Amino acid sequence: MMLKIENLRIVREGKEILKNVNFEIAPQEIHLVLGINGSGKTTLAQAIMGIYPCEGKILFEGEDITHLSVWERARKGITLAFQEPARFEGLSVKDYLMVSAKNKSLNRLEEVIKMVGLPRNILFQEVGDNLSGGERKRVELASVLLMEPKLAILDEPDSGIDMLSCKLISEVIERMKSMGTSVMLITHSEDMINIADRATILCAGKVVASGERDEIKRLFKYSPCPLKR
Ligand SMILES: Nc1ncnc2c1ncn2[C@@H]1O[C@H](COP(=O)(O)OP(=O)(O)OP(=O)(O)O)[C@@H](O)[C@H]1O
Ligand SMILES: [Mg+2]
Repeated sequence: MMLKIENLRIVREGKEILKNVNFEIAPQEIHLVLGINGSGKTTLAQAIMGIYPCEGKILFEGEDITHLSVWERARKGITLAFQEPARFEGLSVKDYLMVSAKNKSLNRLEEVIKMVGLPRNILFQEVGDNLSGGERKRVELASVLLMEPKLAILDEPDSGIDMLSCKLISEVIERMKSMGTSVMLITHSEDMINIADRATILCAGKVVASGERDEIKRLFKYSPCPLKR
């Protein structure tokens, strides 16, 4: 397995946000995480990246990474694209992308910028408030592509992306898969759901179902969250 989560539990400010979470992601699998607002999807994504301390076990390629720092996990090949991407005033898109890019040629940067549907001249703008929310989401996706990680955790990569471009974003994610990356994909969008291989439903901090995509999708439509917090 690429990723295996065992009995993950997270408590924040006295509140149990994730309870006994178990699931796994295979190599080169696109694994969808479904759940209504507040079910714990972002918390799970950030816990795998190492942003919150947790109880339980996180295994990455068979190795226990539960107690590693964010940077150690990043070095092992895990990356997270945030639901709300950060701003870096004063840093150009080009320099921002160069930090994470495995192949640091300008040609490769230009190719990836085009792939996420941005114009070339955006490379010379700042990663700040001068960019729109959707543009920043695309820049972040470009940085994940350039990183060529083993596991990409994408927290609603389609949020703030116009309807016409959602297809483009799904194609980018399929491209990641074909490059050998496993993807944990958090989304509510139908287009994105359909590129997933397997899926897990989170509800009130618990996994209520995990399995083949179409079956999980049906289950989610029928009963999105059968538990109470
Ligand atoms: N800093 C915090 N302290 C305490 N509770 C928090 C904190 N941040 C989030 N929560 C709670 O944790 C629960 C899960 O939040 P999370 O952001 O993981 O949900 P989500 O599934 O990503 O929701 P959405 O679909 O809206 O993005 C929510 O009930 C939220 O109120
Ligand atoms: Mg969230």
